Amino acid sequence: MKKPAVMLAGLGTYVPERVLTNAEFETMLDTSDTWIRERTGIRERHIARRDETTAQMAAEASTRALAEAGFGADRLDTIIVASATPDRLLPSVAVDLQARLGAAKAKAFDIQAACSGWIYALVIGENLIAGGASERVLVLGAEKLSAITDYSDRSTAVLFGDGAGAAVLTRGDGSRGIVSSYLESDGNLAELLWRPSGGTICPPGAEGYDPHGYFIKMAGREVFKNAVRSMADAAHRALDKAGIAGKDVDLLVPHQANIRIIEATAEHAEIPMERVYVNVDRYGNTSSASIPIALDEARRAGRLKPGMTVLLVTFGAGFTWGSMVLRW
Ligand code: ACO
Repeated sequence: MKKPAVMLAGLGTYVPERVLTNAEFETMLDTSDTWIRERTGIRERHIARRDETTAQMAAEASTRALAEAGFGADRLDTIIVASATPDRLLPSVAVDLQARLGAAKAKAFDIQAACSGWIYALVIGENLIAGGASERVLVLGAEKLSAITDYSDRSTAVLFGDGAGAAVLTRGDGSRGIVSSYLESDGNLAELLWRPSGGTICPPGAEGYDPHGYFIKMAGREVFKNAVRSMADAAHRALDKAGIAGKDVDLLVPHQANIRIIEATAEHAEIPMERVYVNVDRYGNTSSASIPIALDEARRAGRLKPGMTVLLVTFGAGFTWGSMVLRW
């Protein structure tokens, strides 16, 4: 296996305090705890307060990641935030985060690759360091999906949760870090999972403006099929690039969207479920934050030990998808 040049020097996560259970959905919508658990694997999700922003959640996660990395925000030279739910469309969440952290020397910007955003941002950060443009990069996946969720639509409302996950990337000594990665996207099927308005296509007041288009719309069954196919392929791509197979993976940490998608991905990669980290039951789908939250939790639960080989696999709106092999 290739020696990793860039390592994750710190990880940190944050989820809001408020927990929204399936039982509460039973009182709001024509749904049931049994349906939600059987079709998605989700039992509950964390929901941000009305006044809690994506940048605030990102700051909480970042402070924890920086504490582990062992240096202050003033030493960061780059901040990349992946988010499908920025607090404003202009300017970025990343500059808000920069100001909150006091990261005066950093260049800060957002990227948008939906649920795949954190993996995309890690690859950008890795390449900035490998190419010599950066030394210390903060990479966030941060989402307030509750703000763009239509709570009268049972087919999407039950799926999403809020939270943030951060990693600090630095040059490593070759013993741990990013071994390989794979990214792909296909914009031809964008309308299967999207927010039709809220951008410049149909601004408020324009003819045909539909305030309802502000919320996430999804063709669930089609998204499901594409997710399974793409995540299976992505898993193999990163493994091939690393020169290993599913049997060599100690822990698969997939995007947490639906337990059935996770099980199908593991099966395609020939990784038994005992070696898969699952927390979709407690957080729902937190989009770009889902993998860092799962990775951090797996580590705190003792599921990740130094020297282990970890496979990350993701899929999201766009469609976008990707994967990464880490040596822990
Ligand atoms: N409670 C009860 N019934 C429901 C609910 C609900 N919450 N939601 C949908 N149904 C109903 C539908 O109305 C439909 O009823 P009908 O047969 O009378 O028309 C029936 O259940 C079956 O609907 P399907 O959409 O076919 O159900 P499916 O088994 O595909 O499950 C689900 C739906 C869970 C959304 C699934 O398609 C899925 O997980 N898709 C992928 C979603 C996803 O992961 N998206 C994000 C991935 S990318 C990213 O993370 C951004």
